[in-house]
Amino acid sequence: MKGILLAGGAGTRLHPLTLAMSKQLLPVYDKPMVYYPLSTLMLAGIRDIMIISTPQDIPLFKRLLGDGSQFGVTFEYRTQSSPDGIPQAFLIAADWLDGSPCALALGDNLIFADHLSAILKQATQRTIGATVFAYQVRDPERYGVITFDTEGRALDIIEKPADPASNWAVTGLYFYDHRVLEFSRKLRPSARGELEITDLNRMYLEEGNLQVERLGRGCAWLDAGLPDSLLEASAFVHTIQARQGMLVGSPTEVAYRMGFISRQQLIEQAQNIGKTELGRVLMDLSLRDRS
Ligand code: G1P
Repeated sequence: MKGILLAGGAGTRLHPLTLAMSKQLLPVYDKPMVYYPLSTLMLAGIRDIMIISTPQDIPLFKRLLGDGSQFGVTFEYRTQSSPDGIPQAFLIAADWLDGSPCALALGDNLIFADHLSAILKQATQRTIGATVFAYQVRDPERYGVITFDTEGRALDIIEKPADPASNWAVTGLYFYDHRVLEFSRKLRPSARGELEITDLNRMYLEEGNLQVERLGRGCAWLDAGLPDSLLEASAFVHTIQARQGMLVGSPTEVAYRMGFISRQQLIEQAQNIGKTELGRVLMDLSLRDRS
């Protein structure tokens, strides 16, 4: 399975923070925002990753992330010249996808859950259909909203409904089978002029092949698209890391735990990060068992 990290858009809801800087490179506590969804894709075992961003921001992502070898993965870069919707990513990546199943992570979404690797593994192993994740929020009108029947089966998904029928939001992490490109080519722009990921998900739902994983109380899903949510995401990461001494959203840590990089590579990266708490925790990890 391949993975796409979509880090485009103008980040207008974060102006002036994003006037000169890509939203997905802003700090979420001690790491650039993009590290979090990147870690999630890697935790799913995905090693072929395409990063899509605006023409002006791509050089910055390349400077930060390079070719991926430091994390034991391969990065490919592509530009999205105008933000015409999330599924446009599949059209941009068409030749690279080459008929593979594909996961897509939005560059401003952070998922934290105890058993995340097991949940992700299931999603990558499904050969037909799509998997999305739903999470209860107080402000569902900001998201794609999913409704369920009394048996817990997904009934419908509506993008940013004015009057949401449930508080289950669809998170920005999606897994699709090999037909994702074929389905994306059938999409037409919505009233807001974009190709909608919700319309793509509905295609899978209509044929009975949309798996919805509900993330419960023990999970955190944050999107860092507004000043408040950016601050909340930073506070959350700080709280977990300070209390438990464990890292949230470190691609280096995930690479080591997944066996993508050796102990020696981990040590080198910990040294490169320098005299920071992040570097210290990574160095500590190299002294412990991988599991
Ligand atoms: C997008 C999707 C929406 C989803 C959300 C998750 O919204 O359109 O369905 O719930 O990401 O972050 P947007 O970022 O375009 O507002």
